[in-house]
Amino acid sequence: MTQQLTIRQPDDWHLHLRDGVMLESVVGASAAHFRRAIIMPNLVPPVVTEKDAVAYSQRIREALQSSGTDAAFTPLMTLYLTEQTDANDVVSAAANGVIQAVKLYPAGATTNSASGVTSIDKVMPVLEAMAAHNIVLCMHGEITRSEVDIFDREKVFIDDVLEPLRKRLPELRIVLEHVTTSHGVDFVKAQSSGMGATITPHHLVLNRNHMLVGGIRPHYYCLPIIKREEHRQALVSAATSDDKRFFLGTDSAPHTANTKENACGCAGVFNAINTMSTLAQVFDDANALDKLEQFASVNGPHFYQLDTNEAQMTLEKQDEPVTFAQQIDAGSQHVVVFDPGQPLYWRVASVSA
Ligand code: NCD
Ligand code: ZN
Repeated sequence: MTQQLTIRQPDDWHLHLRDGVMLESVVGASAAHFRRAIIMPNLVPPVVTEKDAVAYSQRIREALQSSGTDAAFTPLMTLYLTEQTDANDVVSAAANGVIQAVKLYPAGATTNSASGVTSIDKVMPVLEAMAAHNIVLCMHGEITRSEVDIFDREKVFIDDVLEPLRKRLPELRIVLEHVTTSHGVDFVKAQSSGMGATITPHHLVLNRNHMLVGGIRPHYYCLPIIKREEHRQALVSAATSDDKRFFLGTDSAPHTANTKENACGCAGVFNAINTMSTLAQVFDDANALDKLEQFASVNGPHFYQLDTNEAQMTLEKQDEPVTFAQQIDAGSQHVVVFDPGQPLYWRVASVSA
């Protein structure tokens, strides 16, 4: 008999949809499975004001329509925190229901982060206002000091920036985005309130050998970079545990293939299409299918103080591995779809209206 699993419809708490042709090309894949998504603001130029967020949200809705997507999908907008950000604008955007969170990129940490923050001191008034108004801060948790090894950047960020900030402003609710290390997992677990973390599907299935042994695989290059196997295992333990502080953020981040298969390839994995199959396989392999709903559909709304979705998703386990498109078109270019590197037997069978 076919094994089935029905869960509340999941949400994606960290998603890059881009703009223009790319937005139109990728938005349907997320809308097909996820009811809501936290939309990252690292466009060029970034989404920095309430007005920008209103306009970008409108473009996402238009792209949903023009791409022929009929699934219900709500983009939850964010603002990109800069050293010029006006606290009043952030508070207004949240009060008007335009944004769900603010994103902090350390300047230079990742794709399109040049307008990010060089020092927490410079954005302290905004963070204080956010704490006072219960606005969530999403953090890209990597230090950017050139002397810090890329594999250590999350740990050093936690020790040098995040931990002091937690002490200074404990009321500020923070999501450590795409946590990738056991150090990050342990840090989040040690926080009794006000702290959560998203975990990506690719960090749950890959270690750095998958990226670097036998040839360099540019489509596995993302930031924070894929770490050692022991860290992957710590992430799987966190995701499959009952711990409400960990939830799904795909970090689906499309780039055209030519910009990744390049002498200086850019960071980001496009996984929106097969995230749910990947997750179901990870949870199945960990004998934790009963925890998938918590991770993908319950813990995120709990942290963001939102209701869980009414709609349901049914996943089905097949005898043969599921196949996916290897790439999707984006205008005259294409985007390579994440290859989980192992057979996945679970497919999304249906999503109720
Ligand atoms: C993201 C992107 O391409 O926008 N890239 C990535 O490797 N994850 C940015 C980010 O989330 O760091
Ligand atoms: Zn991201």
